Amino acid sequence: MKRIWPKLALLAWLCSPASSWAGSSVAAGIRNCTWCHGTGAQGYTVAPRLAGQQALYIEAQLRGYAAHIRDNPLSKQYMWGAAANLRTDTVRDLADYFASLPPKSAHDGRWALAAKGQSIYLQGIPDANIVACLACHGPGGQGVREIPRLGGLSYFYLKRRLEEWGQGYHSAPASPMPLAASTLGPDEIEALASYLSFVR
Ligand code: HEC
Ligand code: HEC
Repeated sequence: MKRIWPKLALLAWLCSPASSWAGSSVAAGIRNCTWCHGTGAQGYTVAPRLAGQQALYIEAQLRGYAAHIRDNPLSKQYMWGAAANLRTDTVRDLADYFASLPPKSAHDGRWALAAKGQSIYLQGIPDANIVACLACHGPGGQGVREIPRLGGLSYFYLKRRLEEWGQGYHSAPASPMPLAASTLGPDEIEALASYLSFVR
């Protein structure tokens, strides 16, 4: 009987990533995000997965929404309000929390296009001036620092994002993406979004 208590204490400690937030302003903040971003922040309808995303990228995007730099219609409709008035330390805590959650792959692209998408992702298409995405986003699509994880994001989200740079919307100051996406045609976008949705 005596030995059970240390085990329970250990269990409570192991569960603490969630419970240490309980009752704090951060816990309330997390709920304000997950009612759109889904259970476990795995994404839900038009709101993308945040689980496993690079913390510095999440922070940068939240600053971009608050400053109205990321300006596509869904940003305006949903995220300008959600990111307004967040304190700097709250932004950091939320980013660290979502980055720490294990991401699940959306698996919602077209499987038949995955091989073509993988080839573009890894090698680009030099003749068509299409850059290899791996150079920045990493071989497994995991991202680093302010470069986002792409692996396992949903097909529909990725496709929309890749189209939006061509439509003149902005995301981050001095972003390489408007240029990197400018040479992608609809077929390449579909293939890349399909491939990435299956990446674990
Ligand atoms: C009312 C619904 C809603 C709420 C509430 C909401 N979001 Fe969002 N969020 C969205 C939608 C929709 C998008 C996609 C918008 C776009 O493409 O710019 C998004 C995009 C994002 C992105 C960009 C992700 C990426 O991969 O580029 C981040 C980061 C984010 N939200 C964080 C948060 C955080 C943190 C909260 C809580 C403080 C929150 N969101 C609350 C709907 C919501
Ligand atoms: C020179 C570095 C670089 C290259 C090459 C690059 N990216 Fe990016 N990418 C970034 C950075 C930095 C961001 C974050 C800033 C932003 O959103 O504009 C980003 C953002 C993105 C996003 C937004 C993800 C989200 O969660 O909303 C997508 C999608 C994306 N890149 C896809 C691609 C694809 C596909 C390729 C290859 C055709 C590619 N990128 C090549 C640096 C790069």
